[in-house]
Amino acid sequence: MLESAGPEAAEVIMLWWVLFGVAAVVLLIVTGFLLVGCFRNVPQGESAESGNTLGRTLIIGAMATVVLLLILLVATYEQSQPFAEEPDDALTIQVRGKLWWWAVDYLDEDGEKLFETANEIHVPVGVPVRLRLVSNNVIHSFWVPKLGGKMDMVPGRTNHLWLQADQPGSYRGQCAEFCGIQHAKMGFFVVATSADDFADWMAAQQRSAAEPQSDLARQGREVFRTSGCTECHTIRGVPAPSRTDRPASHWGPDLTHLASRQSLAAGALPNRRGHLGGWIADPQSVKPGSLMPSFPLPVDDFHALLHYLETLE
Ligand code: CUA
Repeated sequence: MLESAGPEAAEVIMLWWVLFGVAAVVLLIVTGFLLVGCFRNVPQGESAESGNTLGRTLIIGAMATVVLLLILLVATYEQSQPFAEEPDDALTIQVRGKLWWWAVDYLDEDGEKLFETANEIHVPVGVPVRLRLVSNNVIHSFWVPKLGGKMDMVPGRTNHLWLQADQPGSYRGQCAEFCGIQHAKMGFFVVATSADDFADWMAAQQRSAAEPQSDLARQGREVFRTSGCTECHTIRGVPAPSRTDRPASHWGPDLTHLASRQSLAAGALPNRRGHLGGWIADPQSVKPGSLMPSFPLPVDDFHALLHYLETLE
């Protein structure tokens, strides 16, 4: 049930057990007093003395409660300060909460954007990662239960969260603050890999999209360029009309390396051809209220578009 895959999550689990243990002991003590009170025979004429005892007991009880709450307060505060010294060489990743998906920007040491991806965050194993959490719409909350605590993404603020994965794997994350109709389908993945695999992934993600290698893929790219997809989506290396008349809040995920991702629509669907086709043709049946409109395309164009998108490794 409670499993951690990194030091941050391990501290959260430890805090959970402390809170559980203290609450269980308090429950036992209170239940014990209650039972004693129920079954005790009070002899006649002792009411004045028992009044004194009651007063003492109340004062001791109140003091014990205050002391316990202070201990828990300190333990909770300690948990929120896990990295005493911030590592200088930490990798910084900016995550932007969108309606209802996650834009992920990889930044260089100066905070400049190297590239953008969506709904999937790759990190190297054993390295602390600093996450810069922002939103330009409503409040979201970033949460990967196996790797760390929750942190809100508040419009107008920049919040930070540290994550570290100690074992390779794919860890499910989820928006943990109700943010609208598709809050429940605002998922993502953190993929932890070895340092070498991570370096390869970074290099591949920084490249522009691969040139189409077949007539069908070339046709698919033209469909992408001319059917309205570029109003919201970017494929780096594919020239597209300017989006300046479209509000940034309506811009959708960067699709440059769509085929390298494991899910579609922020964890709502596995990234397979059938699901991709269903999503493009009718997103509203998968995520009602989503900002992506339906795209009914002629069947040849649809086939070519799917083929092209599948080549974007
Ligand atoms: Cu975003 Cu809930």
